[in-house]
Amino acid sequence: MAKSLISIRDFTKEEILHVLETAREFEQNREQKFLEGKVIASLFFEPSTRTRLSFETAINRLGAKVIGFSDATNTSQSKGETLKDTIKMVDNYVDMIVMRHPLEGSSRYASEVARVPVVNAGDGANQHPSQTLLDLYSILQTQGTLEGLTINMVGDLKYGRTTHSLLQAMSHFNPKFVFTAPEELKMPREYKDFLDKSGIEYIETDSLDAYLNDCDILYMTRVQQERFTDPMEYERVKDVYTLNAAMLENVRDNMKILHPLPRVTEIDQDVDETKYAYYFKQAENGLYVRMAIISYLLGYRPLK
Ligand code: CP
Repeated sequence: MAKSLISIRDFTKEEILHVLETAREFEQNREQKFLEGKVIASLFFEPSTRTRLSFETAINRLGAKVIGFSDATNTSQSKGETLKDTIKMVDNYVDMIVMRHPLEGSSRYASEVARVPVVNAGDGANQHPSQTLLDLYSILQTQGTLEGLTINMVGDLKYGRTTHSLLQAMSHFNPKFVFTAPEELKMPREYKDFLDKSGIEYIETDSLDAYLNDCDILYMTRVQQERFTDPMEYERVKDVYTLNAAMLENVRDNMKILHPLPRVTEIDQDVDETKYAYYFKQAENGLYVRMAIISYLLGYRPLK
């Protein structure tokens, strides 16, 4: 079976650092067309702006061609075709599959059906490992290290798959975590058990002010409306936190604000002009990191 990226735990620490180093190479020179003749499928069963467009840009900049869809209603899924049959068929056409799907576990299943590498571009509330690698790249770029940092994750820690992947990846680097969330959106037990077993400290609070001044990275997240089964529950928590520029007066000088985006109301636009905002550069970094992931999985940037 080809090596895929489904969970961030599929990569060792060495592989993670290798991808980050390769991404740095692509940031310095983004025109490297060594994948001419390759075809990569971009299958998005769920909406996306950044992940799909940065993956497709990465594919184009590496010289490969992209096929796929951004709306599964125009595919034979609408006639009842199973995910298994879709993947088996696309697998015959391409050298790699990038897939986003609303069902947790769907990407792992696709990787078991396909012979080519599969990259999970987000499966429900589970994992978003390519986002995690670009988050790590952005953290390294802003802090100069991944070691010993305090990461304050804010917002929807229950459904926010990017926080789940990031927590697991950072566990290689002796972090401390603050989880800022209302009761309804707390970090799920399984991830806290993982931290307990790994001997990693975390604090839980429902107050955004409580630890705002005590972190190196403030990782803001959107409340994931699409994951709620009860619309009333979403209404209760949707505007739970809004960060604005005035709140940043006493934060650490090195502190940077990350957000996987899209944002809704959780970061006021006046924060964009502060030196702490890094989320647009973070999204740009997605291009370099995704070029690195593709190159690594296709064997063009192997571990040394
Ligand atoms: N960060 C992220 O996954 O954004 P999109 O949903 O726009 O791809």
